[in-house]
Amino acid sequence: MKINDTSALPDYIADKERYDQMQFRRCGHSGLLLPMISLGLWHNFGHDDDLSNGRKILRTAFDLGITHFDLANNYGPPYGSAEENFGRIFKRDFVPYRDELIISTKAGWDMWPGPYGNLGSRKYLIASLDQSLNRMGLDYVDIFYSHRRDPDTPLEETIGTLADILQQGKALYAGISQYSPEDTARAAEIMKEHGRSLLIHQPRYSMFDRWVEGGLLDKLEQVGAGAIAFSPLEQGILTNKYLSGFPEDSRAVKDGRYLKQDQITSEVLEKVKKLNNIAMTRGQSLAQMAISWLLKDKRITSVLVGVSRPEQIKDNVGSLDRLNFSSSELNAIRHILES
Ligand SMILES: NC(=O)c1ccc[n+]([C@@H]2O[C@H](COP(=O)([O-])OP(=O)(O)OC[C@H]3O[C@@H](n4cnc5c(N)ncnc54)[C@H](OP(=O)(O)O)[C@@H]3O)[C@@H](O)[C@H]2O)c1
Repeated sequence: MKINDTSALPDYIADKERYDQMQFRRCGHSGLLLPMISLGLWHNFGHDDDLSNGRKILRTAFDLGITHFDLANNYGPPYGSAEENFGRIFKRDFVPYRDELIISTKAGWDMWPGPYGNLGSRKYLIASLDQSLNRMGLDYVDIFYSHRRDPDTPLEETIGTLADILQQGKALYAGISQYSPEDTARAAEIMKEHGRSLLIHQPRYSMFDRWVEGGLLDKLEQVGAGAIAFSPLEQGILTNKYLSGFPEDSRAVKDGRYLKQDQITSEVLEKVKKLNNIAMTRGQSLAQMAISWLLKDKRITSVLVGVSRPEQIKDNVGSLDRLNFSSSELNAIRHILES
């Protein structure tokens, strides 16, 4: 973590106009409204990242009405460091605004060695949430997720544990991520058996990854749960940044853990170029159009973006100015995506 002592930011006072531009959607059948754009801390908040940049991103986001920050136990690197750094910034800047914030975390992927630091057992989920609360300096999170389906643990155990966590008051709402439509339906049923509701599903969804259209969104509507789409920009591919090479400060160059340069092929770039042309005729950046395109479906409660600098979150929020698509734009986009 590089801490730049010479340019410490002044104390934070949130912008008085922070709710003027943001639009909110109800999350499924719950009482909870989420901002149509939320901020994820998967990248750019680890110990190798610049804390003052992370602080600027969070301040800018909240000033724009983004009330939802999404974390997980293993965001970093190293694992846990995004929660730790979020906790430092939260303590300094956001304590007065706690009741205006929806903070989520998750457990499900590898976190610590041995058989109790991964997947979906009661042992892991409860210990992991306690560790997350400790790292972030919080008494509770607003949403706690099972980060993935553990095929070897009975769903009753994983989802029953989420219900117990709600009972304990350590989380206010429960969610699941990347579960199949069938497992989602069963998870919602189990929550109901415990007298609780499944709030939300967090699937991967973008113009380039449309698996949720094959039944998940229908199922979520049926069970009354919301949807928050992660990696909506395909980690940056669905922007204009790779159209003229690989910028030094881009994720594909800086951090090859999840976004590999060889994923960004000439065929992919050809589609991106065509999409970028449509975005320009709409008066949007491609990032904005990729977000607007997801939000055209009212079942998408929120789009969960990541950003490496404050200007990107401003750009992304601008997508809310142009949410409508003409049928010819939709057809042209479909044609490109299916070509
Ligand atoms: N549930 C799960 O299993 C799961 C998995 C993955 C992610 N998530 C959640 O989803 C969040 C978002 O994921 P993601 O970071 O992959 O999302 P993303 O929004 O698809 O990609 C973020 C990257 O796109 C680029 N970008 C964003 N806005 C831009 C703009 N306006 N113009 C140009 N480039 C822009 C930046 O890349 P550069 O760094 O190159 O500038 C940024 O780091 C995560 O933080 C996490 O909370 C959940």
